[in-house]
Amino acid sequence: MKAYRNLNQILTLAGAHNKDGRKLKAEDLAIVSDGAIVFDHEQILWVGRDKDFPSQYSSAETHNLSGHVLTPGLVDSHTHLVFSGDRAQEYAERLNGRDYQDIAKNGGGILYTVEQTLKSSRQELFDSSVRKIEKIISYGVRALEIKSGYTLTQEGEIKTLHVIADLKKHFSKRIQIFSTFMGAHAVPSHFSSSAKYISDVVIPTLIEAHSLKLVDFVDIFHEGGYFSTDDVENLFAVAKKLGFKVKLHADEFFDNSGARLGCDNHALSADHLLKVSDAGIASLASSETVATLLPGTAFFLGKPLPPARKLLDAGCKVSIASDYNPGSSHIDNLLLVASLSAPSLCLNQAELWSAITLNASAALGLKNHGYLAAGSAPCFSLFRASNLSQITYNWGVNLSVELP
Ligand code: NIG
Ligand code: FE
Repeated sequence: MKAYRNLNQILTLAGAHNKDGRKLKAEDLAIVSDGAIVFDHEQILWVGRDKDFPSQYSSAETHNLSGHVLTPGLVDSHTHLVFSGDRAQEYAERLNGRDYQDIAKNGGGILYTVEQTLKSSRQELFDSSVRKIEKIISYGVRALEIKSGYTLTQEGEIKTLHVIADLKKHFSKRIQIFSTFMGAHAVPSHFSSSAKYISDVVIPTLIEAHSLKLVDFVDIFHEGGYFSTDDVENLFAVAKKLGFKVKLHADEFFDNSGARLGCDNHALSADHLLKVSDAGIASLASSETVATLLPGTAFFLGKPLPPARKLLDAGCKVSIASDYNPGSSHIDNLLLVASLSAPSLCLNQAELWSAITLNASAALGLKNHGYLAAGSAPCFSLFRASNLSQITYNWGVNLSVELP
C-alpha cells in the first residue's frame, strides 16, 4: 500500500466518469487541491484532501509530492510504431506540393515503409521500438496501443506481432501495451484486388495470430484506394468469430460511412474522422464506439482538422491519440498533440484531459480506468507543476516525472 501526499492538485475526472465521458463541462475535471491518494497494486483505496487523510492508512509507504500534479495515466490508443526507416523524403515532396494519396498510388507511402520493415529482423524491430517506447513513457503515457501493418505478408505480420508481444513483456511493469493486428493497412502491389489480399493473406494471418495468442484487437484502413466496406465486413466477420473486438480507420480522406460501419460492428473506436458526415456523428453519439481523433495527421498532412466540436456537442465519446507513424503523423508525443490541438478543436479542459485518459481508456476496452476514485485502477501520470493548466500551457515542454 502506498500514499502520495501533499499534491498541489489531483485531477480525478470523477465527474467526467459519471457522465460516461460525454458532454463534459469544465467542472467535470473534479480537481482535488492539496490532495492525497492511497492505493495498492489493484485499486485506489482513497482519494481526497490531505487534511482529511484517514488515520487507518498511516502505515502506507508515503511520498510527499508537494509541487506536483497527479492525473489519471495518459493513454495513447492509436500508434503504428513498429516500423523501420523514415519518410523524410516523402515529407519534403509533400511540402513541395505532392499529395499523400498520390505518393501512395505510385508505390511510396505505406508501401515504402513496408519495404524497409521487411528487411529488419525481430530483434532489430524490438530494439528500435524499445527506444521509441522509452520516450513515450517519459511523457507520462501509461497505456499504449501498437498496430502491426508494415509488412503485409503472413510471416512479416506474425514477426511484428511477436515484437509487440516481446515489448509487452519487456515493459510490463511500466506501461500496459495492447496489440492490434492491422494486416489490412495497404494492398501489396502484386495483388489484383484488396478482396484477394484479405482472403489470401489477412484472414489466414489473423487465424494464425489468434492461435499464437498475439492479438488483442483487429483494425483495417477503410478508405478509397485501400479497403472497401465489403473487405471490412469480411474481415470483421472472422475477427468476431475468433472473439476479437474491432477498430476502424474511418472517414479520413473521404466520407464513406466508416463511422456507421464501426458502430454497426460495435467497434471499440472509429479513428480519424476528418470527413465524418452528420449521419456518422449521429451514429457515434448513440453508440459505445469512441470517436478517436488524430489531429497530428491533419497537422502533418496539411488537412482540415476533424469536426471535434460537432462530435462533442452531439454527445460522442471523443478521444485523441498520436497516430505515431513514419508517414502521416511522425510524432511520439501525445500530450503535445493534444495540447496543440485543443484550442483549434475548441475543447474545454475536461474534454481535453478526458480525450487522453478516460475516453482513450474506453477506446482500448479498459474498465475502471482513466479516472481516480476509490475502486478505480491505480494508473497515474505525475507532473512537476503547480496546477493542471501548467501542463498543457507549457506545450512542447515535458513536465512529466517518474512515479515514486
Ligand atoms: O493512421 N491510415 C493508415 N495508417 C496511418 C498512415 C500510415 C503511413 O502513412 O505510414 C494513419 O494515418
Ligand atoms: Fe493509423
